[in-house]
Amino acid sequence: MVEKMKIRKAKKEDARRISLLKRKTIREINIKDYSEQSISIMLEKNSLQNILNRIDNKNVFCGFVNDVLVGTIALSGNNIQSLAVKYSQVGKGYGETLVEFIENYARRKGVIKLIIYPSLTAREFYKKLGYNRTGKTSTWKFGDKILESSVPIMEKKL
Ligand SMILES: CC(C)(COP(=O)(O)OP(=O)(O)OC[C@H]1O[C@@H](n2cnc3c(N)ncnc32)[C@H](O)[C@@H]1OP(=O)(O)O)[C@@H](O)C(=O)NCCC(=O)NCCS
Repeated sequence: MVEKMKIRKAKKEDARRISLLKRKTIREINIKDYSEQSISIMLEKNSLQNILNRIDNKNVFCGFVNDVLVGTIALSGNNIQSLAVKYSQVGKGYGETLVEFIENYARRKGVIKLIIYPSLTAREFYKKLGYNRTGKTSTWKFGDKILESSVPIMEKKL
C-alpha cells in the first residue's frame, strides 16, 4: 500500500533537506539523460543557497511521508518548477500527487494555464498528466551556462 503524502509550503529550515533531495535525484535519476557538464550545472543550481533564494522568491512545497521528505515542487507565476521525487520512492504516484497539488494551488490563485520546461527525464511523465507541447522551445540556462537548448515548452489548461 502506498502511504499518503502530506504537502505543505517549504520553510527556510527545509532548505537543507530540499537541496539534498534535489541533488541526490539529479545524481541518481537525471544522470542517465544528461552530460556530465549539464549535471554539474544542475547540482550548482540546487545548492543550499539557491534553494534558500527559491524559498524566498517562489512558492516552494514539500511532500512528506511519515515526516520524511519524499518530494518537492514549486510554482513561479504560471510556471511549474523544481519537481523531484526521492529515487527510492519513484513510481508510487507521488510525482503525480505533487503536480495535482500545484494545479489546484494555481487554480485557487486564478491561473488558467500552466507551463513547464520539462527535463528530458520528465517529458513523458508530463505528457501522461495532460501537458502538451506548444511548438515553442526555450534554452535552459543557469546564469550564462547552457544546460540544454531546444527544451520543448509544454502547457495545460486548468
Ligand atoms: C519525473 C518524476 C518526478 C516522476 O515521479 P514519480 O513519483 O515516479 O511519478 P508517478 O509515480 O506519479 O508517475 C505518474 C505516471 O507517470 C509515469 N512516469 C513517471 N515517470 C516517467 C518517465 N520518466 N517516463 C515515462 N513515464 C513516467 C508513471 O509510470 C505513471 O504512469 P501510470 O499512472 O500510467 O502508472 C521523478 O522521476 C523525478 O524526480 N525525476 C527526476 C527529476 C526531474 O527530472 N524532475 C522534473 C523536472 S522538470
